[in-house]
Amino acid sequence: MIAAPLVIAPSILAADFAHLADEARAVAGAADWLHVDVMDNHFVPNLTIGLPVVQSLLKASELPFDVHLMIERPARWAPSYAEAGAYNVTFHAEACADPAALAKDLRAAGSRAGLAIDRDTPVEGYLELLPHFDTLLIMTIKAGFGGQAFLPEMLAKVRAARRHVDAGHLEVRIEVDGGIAADTIAAAAAAGADAFVAGTAVYGADDPAEAVRRLRARAAAAAGGTGAAGGPEVGR
Ligand code: DX5
Ligand code: ZN
Repeated sequence: MIAAPLVIAPSILAADFAHLADEARAVAGAADWLHVDVMDNHFVPNLTIGLPVVQSLLKASELPFDVHLMIERPARWAPSYAEAGAYNVTFHAEACADPAALAKDLRAAGSRAGLAIDRDTPVEGYLELLPHFDTLLIMTIKAGFGGQAFLPEMLAKVRAARRHVDAGHLEVRIEVDGGIAADTIAAAAAAGADAFVAGTAVYGADDPAEAVRRLRARAAAAAGGTGAAGGPEVGR
């Protein structure tokens, strides 16, 4: 069973970084979360923004922030994003020796906790950790850059995670990130994802808010529900 409503999270990686507050406003009212990609030039080759910029952006937007840390040593930084007011803070399993401990720290610091699984990492070894987490982010590309092609073979991980979450009656969102667009979101929803990150498909569109609404409609149709949040949703 997929929890309704579905979550659509535009990624600001595809937005104009000179106008981030305006770009966040452009999807307010249509999007559920704002996905913020933090990259450190070590865990991934790319470099984006860090804590001071995210702190400023948090003050400029009402949307719940879904912070995706693609950084080494996430225990050093992740709790600061929670303290700054992020709704959900996700770090990579590949970068963390004790994911359950960091999840506990994040929850204590006031955010939800998310675990990310990169393209080359099997999900099976992490399923037992899910009771410590609120979101499981399954990369549908290799983490590091926007605009890459969706990898449908990653959906086997989504299906395995969905089976595990449903069998255990866990309250964990299964989020997909990478190449999510009008022609791929239905397959991800049918596989069991219930949160969808989209960068290029939203900020590459003439009307980003309308792009979010269209993505939601396609995902909802594939998931078999309405998925109609009708606006920001922060409860799950
Ligand atoms: C890439 C990031 C993604 C990225 C997705 O590592 O984690 O969030 O913004 O961009 P698109 O939707 O263009 O694939
Ligand atoms: Zn991301």
